[in-house]
Amino acid sequence: MEPSDVPPLVALAQRRADDAGFAMSCDRGVGELLAVLAAASPQGARILELGTGTGVGLSWIVHGLGSRVDASVLTVDTDAGLLEQVRAAGWPAWIEFVCGDGARVVGERGPFDLVFADAPGGKLDGLDTTITALAPRGVLVVDDMDPDLHTTDGLAPALATVRKTLVAHPGLIATEIPCSTHLIVAVKR
Ligand SMILES: C[S@@+](CC[C@H](N)C(=O)[O-])C[C@H]1O[C@@H](n2cnc3c(N)ncnc32)[C@H](O)[C@@H]1O
Repeated sequence: MEPSDVPPLVALAQRRADDAGFAMSCDRGVGELLAVLAAASPQGARILELGTGTGVGLSWIVHGLGSRVDASVLTVDTDAGLLEQVRAAGWPAWIEFVCGDGARVVGERGPFDLVFADAPGGKLDGLDTTITALAPRGVLVVDDMDPDLHTTDGLAPALATVRKTLVAHPGLIATEIPCSTHLIVAVKR
């Protein structure tokens, strides 16, 4: 894929973000990783995104799933207006949009084979619930973990706790990927 050549669905979601002045979408490296992990997810995979935003991460996941119809995706956001705007763009029938707190929804709707925890609920709050909701061999992705990007927003201590929880968890094997906004990818043993 050429640098400017993102999948059309991703380009549309990025356009929505630009129009809304929404600056929290995942970047391309994270999106490509999500696409690859979605493509590798098992038959009948259940995929969860915490924090829909304008649908950039979701679009990468859909791109990764390609023509598959065996998998399903649940995406959650607390912003009802934003969620409705994204939902209205038209998506495959196997995507479910839920308005609510990610920390609550992840506890109610698991298990999941792939989770992109990209909202405070289920990442900064309720991370243990998210880990519990992973299926065996389920994959958890968090981005935006570089402490240098959080020197003024007060999130550095909470992100340090997230990092420590994931890398030291006895039920997970995790790797830190120091590119982009810094990622951690963890798999349930
Ligand atoms: C970083 S953005 C998500 C970006 C999106 N995942 C992407 O890659 O394009 C975080 C989103 O989480 C939502 N949010 C904030 N608190 C939340 C919570 N407790 N549960 C679910 N979503 C939440 C915000 O409204 C925002 O849209």
